[in-house]
Amino acid sequence: MNPNTIFIDSEKCIACAKCVDVCHSKAIEMKESKVVQSNPQNCLSCGHCGAICSQNAITSTDNHRREFRITNLRTQSSEIEKLLHTKRSIREFKSEEIDKELLAKFVQYAEMAPSSTNQRNREYIIVTDKKKIMELENTVVQKFYSHRFLVSPFVSNLLGIFSRKAGRKLANFRMKLAKMSHSADSGEFPIFRNAPAVVFILAPRRGVQTKDDCIIAQQYMMLYAESQGIGSCIIGYAQYARKTVEKVLGAKKGTKVFAVSIFGYPIHKYSKGVQYINGPDVKWI
Ligand SMILES: Cc1cc2nc3c(=O)[nH]c(=O)nc-3n(C[C@H](O)[C@H](O)[C@H](O)COP(=O)(O)O)c2cc1C
Repeated sequence: MNPNTIFIDSEKCIACAKCVDVCHSKAIEMKESKVVQSNPQNCLSCGHCGAICSQNAITSTDNHRREFRITNLRTQSSEIEKLLHTKRSIREFKSEEIDKELLAKFVQYAEMAPSSTNQRNREYIIVTDKKKIMELENTVVQKFYSHRFLVSPFVSNLLGIFSRKAGRKLANFRMKLAKMSHSADSGEFPIFRNAPAVVFILAPRRGVQTKDDCIIAQQYMMLYAESQGIGSCIIGYAQYARKTVEKVLGAKKGTKVFAVSIFGYPIHKYSKGVQYINGPDVKWI
């Protein structure tokens, strides 16, 4: 498959490096004072680079299935349309803390989300203690590191003989692990991104559709946060070390972490949206 390449117009680019800051997959870098897409194979085609660029210097190339266009918002768009267009996964935060009263409101709005048979069995663990966040960060990174042996080409090639799908999954994992190791070794925080707040949503381990209940609450919370000028991002990586994370959190017996997200005041704000050329597969009946 072709990598997700972008085109950087060097005539327009002013090398402000905002695109480098927001590229969490480290596909773009500054090299000799120039912005270059040095690792197109890492690119998720999220379009953050193009959406943040004040000079419109970045466009998606058309040789991959996630080709995107940067869109300007129509002034007559409703508030909810604007919110949905510009709400992106945020991973770069100011050090400013989020007021506890506001964090409490996050839960209030999350609880407005529906739940299967109105069980409302969700629990929230809000972590703002920096030491605790660091402990959680190390817990997840260590879990990834403990799977380093899988990175051996011998293991992945062997697996690939039995199942191509499993081989591909492992290759994907290997790429994630390499990125994460590099990031952690460079003193960055690849899991919780040094965010001032991390929210875990838990529910009974064996309940019916409890995962769905948590995920929908998470989405309500994130949208409410965005409306209050607070950025957020889902942290699926935390699921790799879920059991240890639950221990660190002191989660109640019989409950499970189903949704994790980070929150904070964003360094960068997006005023432009991203639209994918190849839309989803939709069948009308
Ligand atoms: C189930 C799920 C898990 C995710 N896990 C992570 C994660 O662990 N770390 C991260 O930085 N982003 C994570 N993301 C965010 C995606 O990378 C992001 O949605 C994608 O890059 C598109 O960017 P956008 O949300 O700004 O449109 C996750 C998203 C989903 C839906």
